[in-house]
Amino acid sequence: MALKLQAIVLAAALCAGAVGAHTAIRPADMAAKPRVEVDYALHCQGCHLADGRGMAGKVPDLRMSLGRFLEVPGGRAYLVQVPGVATSRLDDEGTARLLNWLIARMGPPATCRPAPYTTAEVTMLRANWLRKARPLRESLLRQIAAQPGSASARSLPACPA
Ligand code: HEC
Repeated sequence: MALKLQAIVLAAALCAGAVGAHTAIRPADMAAKPRVEVDYALHCQGCHLADGRGMAGKVPDLRMSLGRFLEVPGGRAYLVQVPGVATSRLDDEGTARLLNWLIARMGPPATCRPAPYTTAEVTMLRANWLRKARPLRESLLRQIAAQPGSASARSLPACPA
């Protein structure tokens, strides 16, 4: 009898949980997220998806190469000047913060230490955004492919500009 009652109580608790999970999203759920996550969701996720994987053949996988662009000269500017970043509606300060977070999240470069992006840097780079990203992207990817493997983690040099 006691066991049966326990089972009923448990079932009721599970049901309540399931119902709770399907009620409307509360504004507090969004507010509780760090600002960068909300910025990413609003401005980038539509194309790059929640985990950064992108869409094969259309939108690059940020998990694979984001950090690597910082290892080659010109890659640092490219990450700001690429149209999806440069023309987003996020302001310069928010863009610098988002890029710094994204680099840490997607995997920082293995061969050097990147300086964090600053608001002033984003302002300057963004003014010269790339109308066509593909040619520069391909040339940077060739340089990345020619890079030697990762150096010892202890004494990483600063990344190139
Ligand atoms: C409309 C779709 C779209 C949106 C929105 C978008 N991107 Fe992209 N992103 C792309 C595409 C496509 C590329 C490949 C370069 C190109 O052709 O523009 C790219 C390239 C990049 C790159 C360079 C990586 C590489 O492998 O070339 C970064 C970094 C990046 N996006 C970050 C962002 C961030 C951060 C946001 C939000 C502020 C964002 N993107 C919004 C489509 C998008």
